[in-house]
Parts: sequence; C-alpha cells; structure tokens
Amino acid sequence: MTDATDLASLPHPFTWGVATSAYQIEGAATEDGRSPSIWDTFCRTPGMVAGGDTGDVACDHYHRWPEDIALMKELGVDSYRFSIAWPRVLPGGDGPVNAAGLAFYDQLVDALLEAGITPNATLYHWDLPQALQDRGGWPARETAEHFAAYAAAVAERLGDRVHQWATLNEPLCSAWIGHLEGRMAPGLTDIGAAVHASYHLLLGHGLATQAIRAAAPAAEVGIVNNLSPVEPATSRPEDVAAARRVDGHTNRWWLDPLHGRGFPADMLEVYGVELPEQQGDLAVIAQPLDWLGLNYYFPAHVTDDPTGPPPHARQVHRPAQRHTGMDWEIDASGLETLLLRLTEEYGARRLYVTENGSAYPDTVRADGTVDDPERAQYLREHLAACARAVRRGAPLAGYYAWSLMDNFEWAYGYDKRFGLVHVDYTTQKRTIKGSGRLYADLIGEHRLRA
Ligand code: NOJ
Repeated sequence: MTDATDLASLPHPFTWGVATSAYQIEGAATEDGRSPSIWDTFCRTPGMVAGGDTGDVACDHYHRWPEDIALMKELGVDSYRFSIAWPRVLPGGDGPVNAAGLAFYDQLVDALLEAGITPNATLYHWDLPQALQDRGGWPARETAEHFAAYAAAVAERLGDRVHQWATLNEPLCSAWIGHLEGRMAPGLTDIGAAVHASYHLLLGHGLATQAIRAAAPAAEVGIVNNLSPVEPATSRPEDVAAARRVDGHTNRWWLDPLHGRGFPADMLEVYGVELPEQQGDLAVIAQPLDWLGLNYYFPAHVTDDPTGPPPHARQVHRPAQRHTGMDWEIDASGLETLLLRLTEEYGARRLYVTENGSAYPDTVRADGTVDDPERAQYLREHLAACARAVRRGAPLAGYYAWSLMDNFEWAYGYDKRFGLVHVDYTTQKRTIKGSGRLYADLIGEHRLRA
C-alpha cells in the first residue's frame, strides 16, 4: 500500500492527467459530417466486438463535453489527454477539411483552457477514415503522407493553444493486432500487411512530427507506445529465445527506429518481410522527440509457440498472480522497469505515463456510490512505481490515468470498465468512483508539498 509520502519523490511540477480517445467516448458517429472509420466498419462485422457493441453513442461526449470537463475539474487534474478523430476533420481521409469537425475540438480546447486544464492531443488513436482503408490503409505509403497533411490541418487550427501533441497511440496495436492477429480493425491476419503497416505508421509519425512543428513552432511532439517488460516463462532455451523475439516485436521494433537505430535485424529475420523503405525514411522516422509516452498495463511472461504467427510465442497465464478484470496480470514493478529502460537504454529526456489503469466490473450501490478498492490499489501501486523510477533517475514529468470514465473498450465492448468515473450507458449518468476520489486526494496532497 502507498501513502502520500511514497509519492513525495514525484517532481514538482508534475502533470496529473486523465486520458480518453475519440472513438471510445464521443458517439455522434454520423454527426456534423463525420465519415465512417475502420472501427465503425469493424463493429459492424459480425462476431468482432463483444455484444455487437459499437461506438455510435459511447459516452455521448460529443454532446456532454462540458459535463466531462466539470468532472475533470472535480478530480483536480492538470491535463487532459484526448484524441482527435481524423474522420471528423478530413472525412475523405485527404482532401477538404470539414469545418464542423475541427470546430468541435476548437471549442473543447477553449473550454479546457478556461477550466485551467492543459490539452494533450493525440492525432491517431486507431480511427482511420474508412475511405483511406479502401485505398490500402496503413500498408500503403500514401496513408502516411495523408496523415501528415491531416496533422498539419489540425495543428494550424489548434496549435496556438495546444502545445502537447502525440502523433500515434500504440502503433503496436494498429499494426500487429489490427493486421496480424485480426482482433482489431481492420481485422487482417497478414504478416506482410502488418509489417508494412508498422513501417508506414512510423513513417507517418515522422512526417506528422515535421508537419506539426512547421505549423506550430511551440509544439512539443511525442509518440505514445505501449510496452511490456518481457520474461521467459521458464529457463528453457526455447523460451528465452521466445522472450527475445517478443521483446523485439513489442518494444524494440518501435523504439529502435524512433531513436535512429533502424529496425532490429533479428526481427526482420523473424518476419521475413522486406521493408518498403525509400531513401531518407529512417531519418524522418527518427525525428528528435520532445517527449516519449508510455502506456503500461501488464508484464509479459512468454513461451515458445512455433505454430503461432510471428513472433512465434504466446503469453503464459500465471494463476498465482493477481489479475484485473481483463485477466491482465498486475505487476507495478514492470512500470518502473520500463521507465528506467527508456531512460538508460534510449536516453529519454522527458517521459510521461500516458496511460495506466485497470478494468473491474463496477456497480453503482444503492446509496449511489461506486466503491472500487481494487482499482484504487492498482493506482496506488503504479504511482508508487513511478515514484521509485523517479528516485532512480527517470525523467518522468506526468501521469495520465486511463481512463477519465468508463468507455468503449474496443473488441471487449462496454463490459470492461476502466474509468475513474462510472458511466451508466442507459442514462449517461456519470458517478465519480472511489478510485477517482483517491486520485483527487493524491493530487491534492502532492500539490501541497510543492
Ligand atoms: C490502450 C489504448 O490506448 C486504449 O484505447 C485502451 O482502452 C486501453 N489500452 C485499455 O485497454
């Protein structure tokens, strides 16, 4: 258990935040000129999303954003990490800007600033315009170029007020889960498409970084990766080799090219797919970053699985460990390990935990409150891990809890609740959970020590 003193080593200033993403909360899927994204399509593909759920209404944030900003104020956060929906801004994927789409984010940003909350905007949280998927999606180089044009259009409009920008959220999920495992949009199971998607996502990140900086010189640009510390399930040489491959697949494939080290040679061999590389691309991908975002949920314990798709390994469930409602193993020390690895191995100069959180099947009690002690404990443990990493030299500048409120958990639908705020999807009533109250208290205590 953590008490406030454990967090005393978190620096001042420290950004306390909450995070969401567009498709998971906004709803209003056909309003004001928004076009379908690959997730609208995926949700309508039978069997892909639990319960046949869709983001059509979600938390109705598109209409209820003033209430949601009021909740953030009540929690006392400094910053809000949200994403911008490409299909609202450029419904065709490229081509003309939809003024109404940009206007939504414009008013959101103004209201956040008015409330004293710093916006941190992510440009791509998985909602590729379907129109671009129809033209090849991320496996096609043009998508990276269109992404940069979209980034420029957004930064031109918001860059006078938004200074924190993330290009991509968790490209690992877009590439590997979306194109290799088929469990996320666009639902492909093709290693060639997956490797090319990963390449063009990173290229798109580099091109967008340049475009944002050109449009908004004050911009501080980063990227958000989900990483895991990887351990072999046993000391068998096959499992040790599998762990090395999973580390390559999950961590190094993204971090190495972003830091100018090129794509890991061992993984190129594992995938056996030629990169669609053109001269100069690697330098574009390796634009210096102002900050690096880490999403952390669970560690990986893996075993060799020659029959599975690359990287020919699978996660081992360890029943003796504690797990969240996602069945994800709880191990806060993994967060400390990763923050230190980014610092020591990759020379990170400014880090944020851009997401961290847990799902549990919360319910509203008869007295109207939501008690979620397991999430509160998860939060305390992971914040204590952040503080330990800071004591050991990690330049951690902030922490964003996932999520502000319960929302659409992708292929799991609405069943999995990650919020600090409970959402009743029938009435759209929001209720701050016990973990949200705890977060507010920890923020308040940390501020008092400034
Ligand atoms: C990471 C993703 O960025 C977010 O969209 C998702 O809801 C959380 N992980 C929880 O799975």
